[in-house]
Amino acid sequence: MDRNRAPVRVGMLGLGTVGAGVADVLQGKDSSLGRRLGRPIVLGKVLVRDLNKTRSVPSGLLTASASDVIDSPDIDLVVEVLGGIDPAFDYVRRSLVNGKHVITANKELMANHGLELLTVAQEHGCDLFFEASVGGGIPLIGPFRQDLAANEITEIHAIINGTTNYILTRMTEDGASFHQALEEATEKGYAEPDPTNDVDGHDSAYKLAILASLAFGGPVPPEAVYKEGIRHLSTVDFDYARELGYTIKLLATSKRDAGGVEVRVHPALVTRDYLLSQVSGVENAVRIKGDLLGHALFAGRGAGPGPTSSAIVADLIDLVHNINSGTHARIPARFDEGLVIKPMSEVISRYYFRVWVADRAGVLARIGQVCATTGISIAALVQKEADPSSGTAEIVILTHAAREADMQAAVAGIAGLEVVDRVATLLRVEDLTDED
Ligand SMILES: NC(=O)c1ccc[n+]([C@@H]2O[C@H](COP(=O)([O-])OP(=O)(O)OC[C@H]3O[C@@H](n4cnc5c(N)ncnc54)[C@H](OP(=O)(O)O)[C@@H]3O)[C@@H](O)[C@H]2O)c1
Repeated sequence: MDRNRAPVRVGMLGLGTVGAGVADVLQGKDSSLGRRLGRPIVLGKVLVRDLNKTRSVPSGLLTASASDVIDSPDIDLVVEVLGGIDPAFDYVRRSLVNGKHVITANKELMANHGLELLTVAQEHGCDLFFEASVGGGIPLIGPFRQDLAANEITEIHAIINGTTNYILTRMTEDGASFHQALEEATEKGYAEPDPTNDVDGHDSAYKLAILASLAFGGPVPPEAVYKEGIRHLSTVDFDYARELGYTIKLLATSKRDAGGVEVRVHPALVTRDYLLSQVSGVENAVRIKGDLLGHALFAGRGAGPGPTSSAIVADLIDLVHNINSGTHARIPARFDEGLVIKPMSEVISRYYFRVWVADRAGVLARIGQVCATTGISIAALVQKEADPSSGTAEIVILTHAAREADMQAAVAGIAGLEVVDRVATLLRVEDLTDED
């Protein structure tokens, strides 16, 4: 290490689960990082809310005033690990305006304000890195910015929420109900006391918005992502999916074609012998398809202090190399192309649905008639349970590819038939193979 070179002074905003992990790495690996980067990396100031909590960093480094980090001339680089938008947006913006490089792990911030903050960074000659915002320690943002840059990306299929993947794995492997599996996830610390953000798809939607923005080079607002959670899934759907050769996953999907970009998060039947469906527990995985690459799968731990610090400290190493060589934004993340986002009604998919009907002759013909008039072609139809006490039977139908609007019209038509008790589940099907 060149001891004459000025140290890089890191300011941190937040010292919670992730922040404490990053601080441990900076303090524990200070000499190897310094050797590698040719100058010392020192922890300057750390913003927290509560100065009285026991922490793993010297108390003299703690402050409850954001200005000590973001406005201080003694800080070169800011790591934002507060979470949420307010006050993180203001603090990140001010840091950039003050000429400080920023690393953030904040998916909500980048999904909602990524373009604006990247523009401010560009205007002030700074870097804004956010590898940890999607997929924890799995390299995703870096590959999109750099390694996959020669490709036209056409598809992303991602399992990017560990909590829901844990719940769905328990439902698949052990026949647990949604509520049993959620309770277990909460006991193990995988689910928040309020699991809404995870189980209703919001967290996956933020992450998909970031990935799709990077892949397709334009802003994808998180509110444009179609969202459906996993609360309504029933144990029998997992059994039937298995019999049909599929596993149910909460899939974040984005595809681009001449008609625009589709962005959707919902449970889907995924081909069971394909790698993505074998990603279990809290693991994450992202499958990317590009015109030159074909497809590639990135998988690993998507959260936790270790994996997240791995991504944040890697961004820090990249950034300090930029500082050393007096450059920035060598390969910028581009979010500036105008994109047309397809309405969900225009999405094309195959479908699985489950219907309870009167157990008598002629019912299937009536359902077939509705499908024919709404343009839905049936690929397979299986009669499952019959309930003699109510005189009803359950049938499961798989369709060929259809437009979402047509499928919804078919479901409404089928639900309205007097021989139909109810349409119990409607799920989309993703037939992924190694040949794609
Ligand atoms: N947890 C993960 O595994 C994970 C993985 C990937 C990305 N992320 C992202 O990383 C970020 C941080 O997550 P986390 O799990 O580390 O959160 P956390 O445990 O709740 O920590 C938040 C930290 O920020 C501080 N803080 C919050 N609001 C503040 C305010 N207004 N003023 C001063 N300090 C404030 C808290 O101070 P006190 O300590 O005083 O309360 C705490 O130290 C989030 O954007 C999250 O989405 C997390």
